[in-house]
Amino acid sequence: MAVEKKRIIIVGCGPGSVDLLPPAAAAAAGKADVLIVSKRLEGLFTESSAERIDAGADIAQTLEIIARQRDMGKQVVLLATGDPGIFSLAQPVIRHFGRENCEVIPGISSIQVAFARIGLSWEDVTILSAHKEDPRISADELRPAGKIAILGGRTASLHWIAGLLKELGDGRRVFLCEELTLPDEKITEVKPDELTEREVSTRVIVLAVKRELFS
Ligand SMILES: C[S@@+](CC[C@H](N)C(=O)[O-])C[C@H]1O[C@@H](n2cnc3c(N)ncnc32)[C@H](O)[C@@H]1O
Repeated sequence: MAVEKKRIIIVGCGPGSVDLLPPAAAAAAGKADVLIVSKRLEGLFTESSAERIDAGADIAQTLEIIARQRDMGKQVVLLATGDPGIFSLAQPVIRHFGRENCEVIPGISSIQVAFARIGLSWEDVTILSAHKEDPRISADELRPAGKIAILGGRTASLHWIAGLLKELGDGRRVFLCEELTLPDEKITEVKPDELTEREVSTRVIVLAVKRELFS
C-alpha cells in the first residue's frame, strides 16, 4: 500500500525566546513525528517526544533526510529561526518539495525585533545577509538606503560589514544587536572599527541607519 506523504510543516520560531513563539507554533510542533532543528533553536520544544534531527549546515543532506522521513509517512516539522520568509532554510525546502507540499507558520523575525528595540519602523529597510557569505553589493549601491540591516553570524562577516560601513562614511548610527530576546540580549551603538575589535555573538544583526531618521 502506498504511504501517504504528509505536508512538511515549517514553523517560524522567532529569534529564540519562547515568549515570542505564537501558540500556532507550539500546536504545529505538537504534531511532529520528526523535528528538524537547527543549533540556534535546540532549546525549543524539548518536551516533544518527536525524533529530533539536527538541521546541520549541509542543505542537500537535510533535504535528503526530510525526503526519507516523508517517504515513511512521518509528519516532518522544520523549525526555522525568526520568520521562514526571510533568509531561511525554509526556502530551499519549499523549492525542493514544492509549495503545495509545505505549510508555513509565520514567526517574528529577528529584524523586526532589532527595529523594535531602536524604536524605528522597518518597512523601508534594505536587508542583507552575511550569514553564510559576504554579500556581493557595493557601498555605492547601498548609499541611498536610509536603513540597512545586515544579518551577521560569522567573524569574517563582521570584517566585511566594518569595511562597508567605513566606505559609507559617518552619516549613520550603527547598532550591534546581539542575542535578541534571549537572556544575554545586548544592543550597543558602535563605531565601525569596534565591530572587529570585540568578541561578538554569532546571533547578531548590525543596523546602520542615517542619522536624520532619528530626528
Ligand atoms: C539564517 S538567518 C535567519 C533569519 C530569520 N529567518 C529571521 O527572520 O530572523 C540567521 C541570522 O538571523 C539573525 N538572528 C537570528 N536570531 C537572532 C537573535 N536572537 N539575535 C540576533 N540575531 C539573530 C543572525 O544574523 C543570524 O545570523
